[in-house]
Amino acid sequence: MSKVLVTGGAGYLGAVLIPKLLVRGHQVRSVDIGYFGVEHLRGMRPSVEIFREDIRAVLADPAELDRMLKDIDVVVHLAAISNDPSAELNARLTEEVNFEASRDLAMACKERGIRFIFSSSCSVYGEAPGEVDEEGATNPLTVYARSKVNMDNFLVDQADADWRPTILRNGTLFGYSPRMRFDLVINIFSYCAALYGELRVFGDGQQWRPFLHVADCARAFVHFVENPNRDHVMFNIANENMRVVDLIGIFQTINPACVPIHVKLENPDTRNYHVSTARMRAAGIQPRIDIRTGAEEIVEAIVTGRIADPESIFYRNAKWLKELTELGARDHRGLIGMLDLMAAHRVVR
Ligand SMILES: NC(=O)c1ccc[n+]([C@@H]2O[C@H](COP(=O)([O-])OP(=O)(O)OC[C@H]3O[C@@H](n4cnc5c(N)ncnc54)[C@H](O)[C@@H]3O)[C@@H](O)[C@H]2O)c1
Repeated sequence: MSKVLVTGGAGYLGAVLIPKLLVRGHQVRSVDIGYFGVEHLRGMRPSVEIFREDIRAVLADPAELDRMLKDIDVVVHLAAISNDPSAELNARLTEEVNFEASRDLAMACKERGIRFIFSSSCSVYGEAPGEVDEEGATNPLTVYARSKVNMDNFLVDQADADWRPTILRNGTLFGYSPRMRFDLVINIFSYCAALYGELRVFGDGQQWRPFLHVADCARAFVHFVENPNRDHVMFNIANENMRVVDLIGIFQTINPACVPIHVKLENPDTRNYHVSTARMRAAGIQPRIDIRTGAEEIVEAIVTGRIADPESIFYRNAKWLKELTELGARDHRGLIGMLDLMAAHRVVR
């Protein structure tokens, strides 16, 4: 059994990963600034040790850093400004969190002999012809993707015989999480299929994406917590590659009244990539949940009220972070207090 530090543990992926680690007997400590609250980590049994901190502040204070890493065997590093639009809001913040703090945390782990598993993204491939594997060229088109490439490259350079970090380049996630996100394409379509029957497709929808259920992604992290990587440092983690426009047929099997609405964009999204998952499968990782099953799960969570107010900007990272910025919420402790208050009134079943 390992003692695992999950950074960003209160996020969409972390909130699905942590229970899986607990069930398998691992002890979990989470460090998360709490942009989206941390209350949903509190009721877990056995309990999660919760550090409600900005990872940058912890790294700046050697005593705090020692406290955060005390007795830890593996760090699963998820904390990030976690999508393109929120990364563009404040490119400097993205650089600080997604690269500089990540780099410093990795080095602190290397110095202490702690294993390090990093949540990267298939968006590093940007616009790639054909199926791209882990040796394929990166082509980051956004601030977010550049921050992930920088960190991937740093970790590859740092890997040696004594310290072998693991880099998981995840596809676009979907599915239910106790900390929901409605800014990921399948989750957005699920929301629209549940409430409006209209699926807004930006551009022509011909862009390829690799998709992965959030629980399958969490299982991949569990795999590497329990099985240190052997032959490779970097893995594409995805299940189905699909064009956005092809999702429509899947949603029409869930709600036959769904119609696509094509929205023209001034600056069309040129990201277009589909990935090889041969390396992941050779390592023994087999995703289990397909798009239809995961989408239906969310549609029903909305229809039954399990997700109480899906319209809220709280579930849309860029809109929510922009709102926080406009509130002048630079004092993160004050911000966290405000989130607690909101969580106390939020119905999450
Ligand atoms: N969701 C996806 O589709 C997807 C795909 C590929 C990669 N990823 C990566 O996986 C990771 C998790 O993604 P997610 O969907 O759970 O995102 P998320 O935004 O839900 O979670 C990120 C968490 O990090 C925390 N955080 C942000 N800045 C912090 C800081 N300075 N200190 C401490 N905590 C901080 C936030 O409060 C949040 O809880 C991210 O690194 C993301 O880039 C996600």
